[in-house]
Amino acid sequence: MDFKIAVLAGDGIGPEIIDQAKKVIEAAGKKFNHTFNFTHALVGAIAIDKTGNPLPEETLNLCKASDAVLFGAIGDPKYDNDPSAKVRPEQGLLAMRKELGLYANVRPVSTFASLIDKSPLKKEIVQGVDIMMIRELTGGIYFGKPQGRSEDGNTAYDSCVYSKYEVERVVRLACEYAMKRSKRLTVVDKANVLATSRLWRETAVAIAKDFPEITMDFMFVDNAAMQLIQWPAKFDVIVTENMFGDILSDEASVLTGSLGLLPSASVGLLTSVFEPIHGSYPQAAGKNIANPLGTILSVAMMFDLAFNLKKEAEVIRTAVEKSIEADFVTEDLNKANPKSTSQVGDWIADYVLKS
Ligand code: IPM
Ligand code: MG
Repeated sequence: MDFKIAVLAGDGIGPEIIDQAKKVIEAAGKKFNHTFNFTHALVGAIAIDKTGNPLPEETLNLCKASDAVLFGAIGDPKYDNDPSAKVRPEQGLLAMRKELGLYANVRPVSTFASLIDKSPLKKEIVQGVDIMMIRELTGGIYFGKPQGRSEDGNTAYDSCVYSKYEVERVVRLACEYAMKRSKRLTVVDKANVLATSRLWRETAVAIAKDFPEITMDFMFVDNAAMQLIQWPAKFDVIVTENMFGDILSDEASVLTGSLGLLPSASVGLLTSVFEPIHGSYPQAAGKNIANPLGTILSVAMMFDLAFNLKKEAEVIRTAVEKSIEADFVTEDLNKANPKSTSQVGDWIADYVLKS
């Protein structure tokens, strides 16, 4: 089959890790007889430098016309140190989420047996962790209006706004994931304080009627933050609103000690975006040392979700596991004998081709 992929490499290590993902996609294409057409476009700080806009119109149109978007990372220290900058790379990301209707961010977090010692938590606690974190991505306090400052500048306000429809679609997606897993779903909110959280609860309870096999439980976000550290293995599918999800998904991502390995999918109405969860890691840019596995595993999610190429996705996941077992990994996973970003990419592409 033929697939069109928009490639948005972005900033920092983005271009290097994306190159490895492309190698793996090409290898899968050769092996399984598919054609993948890549078109590159600008996003983030590099797009600001070249066009003044972190998400140029051309990039957005390309995404809309593609079967999937492969995304690297955005962010540049020159903006981090200047919160007053008028145009910021993150605006490109938020605009992309809104314009493409990327309503759910899906982040699987699981342990790799051979990497368990990298976790900041005790082995007994982290063993068996297998969480599917689903974060609402286009609503809540990130996009709520009004937002701004009073005339005298002494007061500022953000608004957390959710419609029932926005809650329904993401909770429904979470239920579908739960059905394919252990049929347990934890809805995280702050219903003891927030009106939006009470709408979330009410809506989730109504959706649950369509999924009688699912055991749904509710947890306040502060308690969830604590339990994620204390008993991470007891969670399965978690669904929550935008800001809580931003915080909890970062927390979840370090549980297994393998931040560089974690993929994500942002499920959209028009097209979906696949990206590693780590950032642009500017200190490593251009050094060929960044871990490409999170991006390569994001390709596996793309094959699964956007192209319905299940067998191909499985081969890519196996190739990644094998590279870890063979200790053919970058310096974050093996300081004594590290392989470069491109060596790891070549190894995995080769494994896919020969599998
Ligand atoms: C993320 C990031 C973004 C967010 C930032 C860069 C705007 O932290 O994707 O989790 O807060 O959503
Ligand atoms: Mg975040």
